[in-house]
Amino acid sequence: MLSKEMQGALNAQITREFHASYLYLAMSAYCETKSFEGFAKWLQLQSQEEWEHGMRLYKHILDRGGTVVLDAIEAPPSEFGTPLEVFEKVLAHEQKVTKLIDELYAKAAEEKDYATQIELQWFVTEQVEEEKNAEHIIALLKMVDAREAALLVLDKHLGKRSEG
Ligand code: FEO
Repeated sequence: MLSKEMQGALNAQITREFHASYLYLAMSAYCETKSFEGFAKWLQLQSQEEWEHGMRLYKHILDRGGTVVLDAIEAPPSEFGTPLEVFEKVLAHEQKVTKLIDELYAKAAEEKDYATQIELQWFVTEQVEEEKNAEHIIALLKMVDAREAALLVLDKHLGKRSEG
């Protein structure tokens, strides 16, 4: 059985995951508008992943006999700057999410809620991957140094991402 406090904290994280999904979808639309189809595809898949993260927590709450309470999702911006700035924003967002996941994990540990700790372990591992991916793309974009031809090659490379 989830404590009321843990349930509230997990519900808040569902909203944050859906907000991340919405944010990355807005970034994807922005990139597509700028004709960066590869970046757009990568971000759209990332948006889908974030939705799935929210649904993992949604399922966890229901499986534990809790109540899912969905909140309003904050509207994302529609302008994100250069491709480098887009991915710097992705990294900054993921770093913020990592901190929130760590706080949730600490709360679950404090409450000796082992089932939630095990569920959150997946998120802790996922955040390592998410930050690494964003850092890698930023490093590549910095090498590109805004030369358009190289940007197009990188855009094609990201466009090869498959599901998951
Ligand atoms: Fe749900 Fe990108 O972390």
